[in-house]
Amino acid sequence: MMTIQEKEEFFCIPHKDNELLDFRAIFGNDNPVYMEIGCGKGELIATKSLVEWDRNFLGIEVKGDRIRIILHKLDASRHANVRLMRLYVDDSVINIIPRHSIRKIFIIHPDPWPKRKHHKNRIIQDSFLDTLNQILRLRGEIEIATDHQEYVMWIVEHFARRKDFVALYEKGYTTLPRAGHIVTYYEEFKRKEGYPPYFMRFRKTDHLPLTAHTPQGDEDDRPETTAGNLSAESSGNR
Ligand SMILES: C[S@@+](CC[C@H](N)C(=O)[O-])C[C@H]1O[C@@H](n2cnc3c(N)ncnc32)[C@H](O)[C@@H]1O
Repeated sequence: MMTIQEKEEFFCIPHKDNELLDFRAIFGNDNPVYMEIGCGKGELIATKSLVEWDRNFLGIEVKGDRIRIILHKLDASRHANVRLMRLYVDDSVINIIPRHSIRKIFIIHPDPWPKRKHHKNRIIQDSFLDTLNQILRLRGEIEIATDHQEYVMWIVEHFARRKDFVALYEKGYTTLPRAGHIVTYYEEFKRKEGYPPYFMRFRKTDHLPLTAHTPQGDEDDRPETTAGNLSAESSGNR
């Protein structure tokens, strides 16, 4: 059994400013890379990485104590496809994540910053979606969940005014979880308070992002191992 220090050495990638990550060197293969921003206590990354063993998972979390909680859930022999990074993600992430290198991004229960004067702190902003476009592969996806209804509308509207992403749900969101849905700590906490989650998915198109003008990457058309049943999803029962 690994000590927490051994786990830290195995799983945690030191973050060096302006040095691009080499995913082939990090994971030892060319499997598609999934990235989770704000992975909290790690329920999603620790579970999904077992099911989707032929994907690589990079979990990013700003709080060190939460990284340690995630480490307790990981084991090098079972989670060889997982790495963690302690980092506050913002537009500068483009300096460490190579362009067109990410197949899927999860942003599960991002901090909602409910007060209007704090909306500028929300992670979903036009410029940040430009940044996510840059690091995603063509047809790469962003999955977002939040229980905060006003933030749902904010997110749906931010994506709706762009051509470089297309919403995968008719109204931009659904309340129905996908097959294989993983309930995170925060989802469970908010459900108990009476706030169930809304789920959103957006796919990168071949349109240019709002402000950046770079060539688009190649695509990864391999089917997903746990394909969701889009036909079973609707905009839910609100
Ligand atoms: C509301 S919690 C949700 C955690 C987890 N995804 C869940 O569903 O239980 C938001 C998490 O995102 C982290 N976080 C917030 N902003 C971040 C950022 N810009 N970069 C990295 N982590 C961030 C916070 O530290 C916190 O752990």
